[in-house]
Amino acid sequence: MNSLHVATISSEMVPLAKTGGLGDVCGALPIALEQNGVRCSSFLPAYRSVLQSGLPIEPTQHAFTIHIAGRYVACRILKTRLPNSLVDVYLIDQPQYFDRDGLYANRQGEYRDNCERFSFFCRSVIEAIDQLQLDIDIVHCHDWQAGLIPAYIHARLGNFPWMEQVKSIMTIHNLAYQGRFWHLDMPLTGLDWQYFNWQQMEFHGELNLMKTGIVFADTVTTVSPTYASEIRLPAYGCGLEDILRSRGESLVGIVNGVDYTQWNPETDKHLPANYSVANWREGKGVCKERLQQEFGLTVNPDTPLIGIVSRLADQKGWDLIIPLLLRWMDEREAQWVILGTGDARYEKQLQQLAAEYPRKLGVRLEFSEEVAHQIEAGCDMFLMPSRYEPCGLNQLYSLKYGSVPIVHSTGGLVDTVRDASVENLSLGSATGFRFGDYSIAGLEQALQLAIDFYLQNKPQWAQIVEGGMRDDWSWAHSATQYMEVFHKTIQCESLSDSC
Ligand code: ADP
Ligand code: GLC
Repeated sequence: MNSLHVATISSEMVPLAKTGGLGDVCGALPIALEQNGVRCSSFLPAYRSVLQSGLPIEPTQHAFTIHIAGRYVACRILKTRLPNSLVDVYLIDQPQYFDRDGLYANRQGEYRDNCERFSFFCRSVIEAIDQLQLDIDIVHCHDWQAGLIPAYIHARLGNFPWMEQVKSIMTIHNLAYQGRFWHLDMPLTGLDWQYFNWQQMEFHGELNLMKTGIVFADTVTTVSPTYASEIRLPAYGCGLEDILRSRGESLVGIVNGVDYTQWNPETDKHLPANYSVANWREGKGVCKERLQQEFGLTVNPDTPLIGIVSRLADQKGWDLIIPLLLRWMDEREAQWVILGTGDARYEKQLQQLAAEYPRKLGVRLEFSEEVAHQIEAGCDMFLMPSRYEPCGLNQLYSLKYGSVPIVHSTGGLVDTVRDASVENLSLGSATGFRFGDYSIAGLEQALQLAIDFYLQNKPQWAQIVEGGMRDDWSWAHSATQYMEVFHKTIQCESLSDSC
């Protein structure tokens, strides 16, 4: 029997293009699947960051035009490979759409033609699959940017023979970003207006590409079991809860994995010292000292150092963090290092605070892979008080780096951080601190508890650190679960099946 052939379709993929965890996942999952005997091909826009990535990029003989927005727009297919793998990455090359500064936005804001750009991307992908004669069993679509693909297969857009057999999977990484556009963008999709109705592509009068993917995919997955339950409820469903509930058991949660070839303190090239669970005190000590120096903080091995690497978006709990910083700066001895970019409002507040308290708070408003690794290694605790968190990768990195995560009990944070409850402590299974009440007081209490342990109960602290470092969140586990989903999806005859 031929091996399963999965096409990953996404708008980000490490090391080619990344703005957040989506990129990490789409760069690592295909490689983990390959290790399970799956043949993987991936599709990505040929953004500027891709062309400048330094990876060898080859032309293919395939080029075509797509009729969109009243014009014929040319597309070339380029090809590269994910490093250390056999995963072919096909690049949709259309410089006017994709050779730009940012993936979705520039300093002025979101690109106005995002609907046209990603409709073009999806339409090119289905054409490319045909031209390349890839014998695909499953298209694995990630987030709204790939949400049209399941609809194209359902509607047989282009009438391609490969669509007869193929199954589609839609993975939701973040329901808050739905790809909503005004209704008159519908013709850009190439689909008939008949699909623009409240049960399919329409949502409150607008076109909704996330909803489109959820409705038409054979199976829907999201990135943790807790988030899979949460999004069936109005508080987290962002208006799509009824549609999600209607998917029943064909909505599945699978926690993301970590690429330990990139995120491992034993081998990490970005650190001043490498370390493992056997010698973390010395290793982290060196990393902490360097971090304090680099951020201009008072160098002191005993002051608790709290780290944050995060998009500056409401999702990530800045409405709790900033008031807490204001309250703690004068009162407490704790130090903070923060790396993030995003909302100008938060950037300004953080900058002002850092200027006022330079020895206690270090802030970098940039996107730096290197600094992200250095914070993971050099801090004592890692803060992630997200309002909601589909999975979250940074808490998984912190576990491995011995930086104890302090998290709000939501989504993937519940599934991956074991709270320092009396019971877990007595079992020796705690790996972090969780708080349930999304409030400044809730966060403050959890953080204070962590600091108390850190300062006053060294043996217990070490147990928590080492418990987290020993946890295994490698992709192997998640890939096995995706394999099950793939096989189950293939066995289902149609959407109407109860599987
Ligand atoms: P999300 O995808 O919601 O932003 P995740 O925790 O899943 O959250 O993933 C975030 C990813 O982006 C991590 O790999 C993290 O290290 C990275 N990241 C976020 N902000 C920055 C930044 N300013 N510099 C470098 N890496 C960042
Ligand atoms: C999204 C989510 C994050 C998740 C990531 C990768 O950006 O916000 O929680 O880890 O996707 O799945």
